[in-house]
Amino acid sequence: MVKSRLVRSVEPDPYPHLPVERGKKDKGVGIWVPQDKHRLLCDYLYASRYAWKKWPERIFIDPFCGPGRIQVEGESFTREGGAVLAWRTLAEEAPFSRMLVGDIDPIRAAACERRLQAGGASVKSFAGPAVETIKDMVQEVPRNALCIAYIDPYNLEYLSFSIIEELAKLRVDLAINFCTMDLQRNAEFEFDPERARFDDAAPGWREDKDVLEASKQNVKLAFFRYWCRLVGGLGFEHSREMPLVHNNAGQPIYRMVFFARGHDLPKRIWSDVARGQNRSLEFF
Ligand SMILES: C[S@@+](CC[C@H](N)C(=O)[O-])C[C@H]1O[C@@H](n2cnc3c(N)ncnc32)[C@H](O)[C@@H]1O
Repeated sequence: MVKSRLVRSVEPDPYPHLPVERGKKDKGVGIWVPQDKHRLLCDYLYASRYAWKKWPERIFIDPFCGPGRIQVEGESFTREGGAVLAWRTLAEEAPFSRMLVGDIDPIRAAACERRLQAGGASVKSFAGPAVETIKDMVQEVPRNALCIAYIDPYNLEYLSFSIIEELAKLRVDLAINFCTMDLQRNAEFEFDPERARFDDAAPGWREDKDVLEASKQNVKLAFFRYWCRLVGGLGFEHSREMPLVHNNAGQPIYRMVFFARGHDLPKRIWSDVARGQNRSLEFF
């Protein structure tokens, strides 16, 4: 497994008075956030640093950025958030020329911007729902840029497919945290009156033959595969490894999926860094 040396330490918060991400219930995020989500993202960036170096413009796009700082449940200190870690991982060898970060909460978007600036990044923040801000972010990207989009919503319903369609206008790789927990909670989501809430993430899923014919046990997997095919329809291929992130109770909550288009190297690098984590598709 490729190791990133940069992400292993915790830097002090340049702005301790600014907000911190403590999860939806404000009790602190799970330890899986730094240990799995952030580690995989940063290991991937570090392992791909020579590929990044070849590009005159390197852009990081994060439409669900949070405030740039997290606190893990039970810990007395705070740690860097995903965008800040991503910046620091490449800062020495192939720094992002621009960090484009957004959040529905303007205070969080601004906090992330300030923390990135404190680390020396060139950054622009966007306040608003990702479905809107992504359009402005795409407008900011120069033609000669390689981009990575880190898509990390709390819920599947915010993972609107239109975000991916917008990003597909760019030369971009996608690191997406796909919330399996939402599907878990809707074990019988064929009959769920709220089922429409997945329509934005995967338009047309209710008419898909494989989903319609799937057993109750398999319908969540069929949904996920349908979504992968939708993204594939934009020309992206997913990496073989899609590690599952588990919560403290051992339940799968996210699947970390990586997509690239037109070149195999990023998928191979992702697979290398992700190998060893649980990658079975059977346990949704
Ligand atoms: C999982 S947290 C982000 C954590 C961050 N990516 C990290 O790695 O440190 C999700 C963030 O999305 C924001 N959010 C919720 N709904 C949103 C929406 N529709 N569009 C953009 N941001 C949203 C929340 O305010 C929250 O800060």
